[in-house]
Amino acid sequence: MTSSPYKIIPPTFTAIPSLEVGRAVTVTAVETPDAGLEAIGHLVGTAGDVPEALGLDRAALDRAGFGGTTGETLLVPSNDGAELVAVGIGDSALTTSSLRDVAAAFARAAKRSARIGLVLPELPGISDADAGAVITEGILLARYTFSALKSKPKETPLAAVELAVAAADVDAQRDGIRRGIVTSRSAALARDLANAPPSHLTATDLADIAVQLGAEFGFAVESYDKAQLIEMGCGGLLGVNAGSAEEPRMIKLSYTPATGAANGRHVAFVGKGIMYDSGGISLKPSDPMHLLMKMDMGGAAAVLGAVTALRDLNCPTAVTAFLSCTDNMPSGSAYKLGDVLTARNGTTIEVKNTDAEGRLVMSDALVLAAEGEPDAIVDIATLTGAALMALGGATAALLGNDDAVIEAVKAAGAASGESVWQLPLEKSYRKQLDSDIADISNLGGPHAGATTAALFLAEFVDGIPWAHLDIAGTMQSTTDESWRSKGATGFGARLLADFAVAYGTD
Ligand code: BES
Ligand code: MN
Ligand code: ZN
Repeated sequence: MTSSPYKIIPPTFTAIPSLEVGRAVTVTAVETPDAGLEAIGHLVGTAGDVPEALGLDRAALDRAGFGGTTGETLLVPSNDGAELVAVGIGDSALTTSSLRDVAAAFARAAKRSARIGLVLPELPGISDADAGAVITEGILLARYTFSALKSKPKETPLAAVELAVAAADVDAQRDGIRRGIVTSRSAALARDLANAPPSHLTATDLADIAVQLGAEFGFAVESYDKAQLIEMGCGGLLGVNAGSAEEPRMIKLSYTPATGAANGRHVAFVGKGIMYDSGGISLKPSDPMHLLMKMDMGGAAAVLGAVTALRDLNCPTAVTAFLSCTDNMPSGSAYKLGDVLTARNGTTIEVKNTDAEGRLVMSDALVLAAEGEPDAIVDIATLTGAALMALGGATAALLGNDDAVIEAVKAAGAASGESVWQLPLEKSYRKQLDSDIADISNLGGPHAGATTAALFLAEFVDGIPWAHLDIAGTMQSTTDESWRSKGATGFGARLLADFAVAYGTD
């Protein structure tokens, strides 16, 4: 790990805290909850029977102000034994997505307890495997905290989770739990990386971490330094890096499914890895939004998180990923407005705003991805404030050049509970990117910013079926809500893992 004089606190990431997810915590399927648990949750609808074990009837719950709506919780303290938690499930059948939310609400209500259990009725319409997976995700992700830099963390870390289900296929459920642990760990890793302060996690640090993770989770890692990037003609990434005291890195991850398990398909992922986005010479104002720009590598973090899950999910699809990493800084050596950069495929780009840097670093990575001739490319980037303005913090913008890939991303979004919404790749806006002196400019007009940014990216995928996720809105949450914990959400890690696993299965 590189060190620098202003890393007052030693680098956090020699030990990656999120890797304890599923190690320090055990999640087990049991018949009846263990006597040693500190909190036990029971599901209660807005109508119908109240589980006897709660020791309260409907009238008592009503008096306590608990109506049983989805995500509502009521803590029932007890002198001895576990405190009981009534967890609302509303009035309609649970879906995998609402079940994940319900499990998260329970885990938050029981936040002072390290050992918790959830008692489940039969869940019509949800397979035992899916139930195990989404409950595990909801609980583990709701209890995620980034406490690596706190002297005295105040949150109670989770130690044990028990899921008690009546008359279920316990083996299937155990398999689901195992899946849920793997996907939660990949999202928690993405959160750790995005929550890390910008001077704790530089592009070179991220490359070092990727190497470490590759050895542990079974994928190959190559990383290209500045000299190599010059050889490779990656002018977009190098241009953005010009103002930085830190070297850039293009990090390549390769996952190959075990022989016999492979489906013969190959997808490429590309992640925006701006370790810190100051705006460069087009400097951002010093408002709270600027502070969040340490998370401008949320796309790269999601891709890295997803790739750590593939072996353990027995993913049959081969995956190649490129993380395009640098910070975007103003300085005497910084790239300037009016500069022209040449991307790896020879496209010349006039820089009209140095804060539209994401699309510049993505251009080279998309070209590299396309050179591998994958069946599909999916990129993920904290690309535009416009995506945040249009869709807010819950839903990511989805654009692309191919309906099948777009539909597959939508399906992965639904399965992971990471919500996406398609915006049009309106070709008639392409002329907004015209440049008088180069092939293209990096700045569109004042409207439809998410679309013009995607139209820029489309120039670099060489016609390969491609989908783009703009996660500027979903990269972080200002509140604890369902599985999203305050701070970085890790959005996209679970979605991309699901996409790769499902790709080519139909
Ligand atoms: N990293 C930002 C986008 C962003 C904004 C992410 C808010 C997360 C939250 C990106 O590099 C950026 O600055 N985009 C500009 C582009 C503009 C100059 C064309 C934007 O959206 O304002
Ligand atoms: Mn920017
Ligand atoms: Zn940015």
